[in-house]
Amino acid sequence: MKIAKKSTTLAVSPADPCALQKIVTLLDHPLLHTIGAVADDLQLQAYVVGGFVRDAFLNRPSKDIDIVCVGDGMLLAQRVAASLDNKLEVTTFKTFGTAMLNWKGWVVEFVGARKESYCITSRHPSVLPGTLDDDQMRRDFTINTLAICLNQNQYGLLLDPFNGQKDLENGIIKTPCDPLQTFSDDPLRIIRAIRFATQLNFNIAEETLGAMAMVRNRLKIISQERITEELHKIIAAHKPSYGFQLLFKTKILEVIFPEMANLAGRDQVGTHSHKDNFIHTLEVLDNVSASSSKLWLRWAAIFHDIAKPLTKQFSPKQGFSFHGHEDLGAKMVPQIFRRMKFPTNKEILGYVQKLVKLHLRPIALVEQVTDGAIRRLLYESGDDLEDLFLLCRADITSKNPIKVAQYLANFDRVEAKVLDVEARDKIRNFQPIITGELIMNTFHLKPCKTIGLIKQAIKEAVLEGKIKNEYEEAFNYMYLVGNQLLAKEE
Ligand code: CTP
Repeated sequence: MKIAKKSTTLAVSPADPCALQKIVTLLDHPLLHTIGAVADDLQLQAYVVGGFVRDAFLNRPSKDIDIVCVGDGMLLAQRVAASLDNKLEVTTFKTFGTAMLNWKGWVVEFVGARKESYCITSRHPSVLPGTLDDDQMRRDFTINTLAICLNQNQYGLLLDPFNGQKDLENGIIKTPCDPLQTFSDDPLRIIRAIRFATQLNFNIAEETLGAMAMVRNRLKIISQERITEELHKIIAAHKPSYGFQLLFKTKILEVIFPEMANLAGRDQVGTHSHKDNFIHTLEVLDNVSASSSKLWLRWAAIFHDIAKPLTKQFSPKQGFSFHGHEDLGAKMVPQIFRRMKFPTNKEILGYVQKLVKLHLRPIALVEQVTDGAIRRLLYESGDDLEDLFLLCRADITSKNPIKVAQYLANFDRVEAKVLDVEARDKIRNFQPIITGELIMNTFHLKPCKTIGLIKQAIKEAVLEGKIKNEYEEAFNYMYLVGNQLLAKEE
């Protein structure tokens, strides 16, 4: 069969005329016409459903299509693939009864309409064939239940038994059935609700939100990888703090990221108090997100004060302090990364640790700025200097705009000075000129501790500005230090 291309009067009717036009264009696609025509041949009903329809109504183009058919979804997938291109492969997932194909950048997933029933200890349902109604009812949120018919006689007919279209218009996340049931069936939906609310800037219906809070401990049966995937999506949103506020309000954060939930709260002793570090962290996160879409820089914002609760101290004279939270925070990062199943390589884990560890350094330079301190910062931050600056600027949160302006101006001065030293000394990508091999040859040494000590001394001298990072000066310094150290050893 050839790829079908038919012009059809569509029966969908979103209130917004632009959205309507968009859907008409989206639906009038050869791929969807082909699926409809093949379904007609097989005498099956086929519908496009879920995220593709939701996103079409919201004018967010997507190339992921979910097809539900009343009957054998695997057979429909095989026949559609054959009619699009007889070499096209279909991937089948027998356990889930789904099949998937990739065609010209489109990813199409097929499933037979089903009823699902769940047992309390497992997130795997037992599945029975069902009607389209059954299938819509088993879905997570009303905005994801919309189905559009692809069969020729009803092409474009919208089936919306749960008023998903109205919820899309009003910006509401709501379950189609009893929310306790929907969330117990698949607890990942608890976080999906917050993810959709954050991505789309929607509200979550009160009853739905209440149920999420009630069944939050059921998240413990969900694999960490799937939870983490949702968290990444929340963090990648335009205003990620919204999602974290919801996670906190429902006490879900205590279950999935207790260290972050622990940041919340303010202590007051007499006239002394400190800011709520959870609210502050969210402000920093939003500030970073307004300037950068880098996922791990956003995570660094979340982690930057993570050790504050553990380092909190009170003295009647100075009030509250969180001394050393940057160092302890950097030490806490790896264990949280492992638990969250984040990548633990140097590029990601090392990067986040570095930003957490250094986040107070640039601001500290406002008060005590020596070229040596600047060189040290340049050396330690290396290529991540710009990201560190961005985080530090984002960290300036105060309700008093005069204070913020003052701090930012101080920061401008530090930044200018840092860039000036870098232009002069090129410390950022410091590579030692004196190699271990040269040291061994000069002093007739075999590999030993002293070589490391000499190298370290040369690096310190460069950072302190005692010598330039140039061969002659560095060589002479090596000679001096080497002889001193070796004399001591004799
Ligand atoms: N679905 C569900 N419960 C889940 C996951 C998915 O009911 N835990 C249903 C929803 O109807 C959803 C559809 O399956 O729309 C497809 O799921 P998925 O591809 O994960 O999400 P999308 O809605 O397409 O959105 P996104 O691509 O942003 O994840």
